Amino acid sequence: MRRASDLKHIRTAVFPVAGRGTRFLPATKASPKEMLPVVDKPLIQYAVEEALAAGATRLVFVTGSSKRAIEDHFDTDFELEKLLDSQGKSDLADQLRSVLPSSATCIYIRQPAPLGLGHAVLCARPAVGHEPFFVHLADDLIDADVPCLKQMADVFAERQCSVLGVEEVSPADTDKYGIVDTGGDKGQIARINAIVEKPKPAQAPSNLAVVGRYVLTPAVFDELEEIGQGAGGEIQLTDGIARLMTQEDVYAYRFSGKRYDCGSKLGYLQATVEYGLKHAQLGSAFRSYLQGKFKP
Ligand code: UTP
Repeated sequence: MRRASDLKHIRTAVFPVAGRGTRFLPATKASPKEMLPVVDKPLIQYAVEEALAAGATRLVFVTGSSKRAIEDHFDTDFELEKLLDSQGKSDLADQLRSVLPSSATCIYIRQPAPLGLGHAVLCARPAVGHEPFFVHLADDLIDADVPCLKQMADVFAERQCSVLGVEEVSPADTDKYGIVDTGGDKGQIARINAIVEKPKPAQAPSNLAVVGRYVLTPAVFDELEEIGQGAGGEIQLTDGIARLMTQEDVYAYRFSGKRYDCGSKLGYLQATVEYGLKHAQLGSAFRSYLQGKFKP
């Protein structure tokens, strides 16, 4: 096996949040897709919590136009906290204070134009440096007993190579994802032989799709520097990973958990219902409401 790293611990998480979110227009015209709430927390907060649970302490947001709300969300709002305290709403004030632990650092980098996910990741290079790092796409919300990035960090600690979160999708949907070929290896961790961006079902090497969770070694940056525009005229992270695979082993990891594609309206609604049903304060009232609604 070709090992790519000797670091056990990953401290940096990159959140590319510079896409335009066209599938959610007009909701995303002035407000980023990643600020859409699932029950009472924006998608980007679920993302940050997952990265923190996996051990990340440096949070790098690659932002674009209309993304100020994300910076504001992770900034301390002393006035609001004071107001809530003075109104006797200290529990809410405490919730705001606990959005980020003091050990975490936020770094914001602007992607000058939405040139693709690979380009967004490349923009993070100065902040990441020569270390392995997580990439987390907030619109893939994953509900798991062990947070998905933590599962992948454990795989990385053992293998010391890049790891991509994957799941089987409907064979008809391969043209919506990066698809990997593991040579038929159906194990939870499998070495990838090939990766291709959004193949038509007839050309897809499998139906094993890359979802929005990655552990990447810094060697991917050199590969991303080299590639040009790929599918859809964008600089594709998939193409950079395909080049990385000629230098290092890259693994597919079938994570444990349920993924909701919150970049699509249906997936977002499904997540809202499921997280609503699980919610500590709202869950039972919401369940009664739904049961009443669907009673014959
Ligand atoms: P998507 O493919 O979901 O694109 O990007 P999008 O623009 O966000 O949404 P739609 O398809 O128009 O509705 C996948 C992830 O990559 C980021 C997005 O923010 C999202 O998290 N991304 C994409 C960038 O940061 N920059 C880009 O140039 C493209």
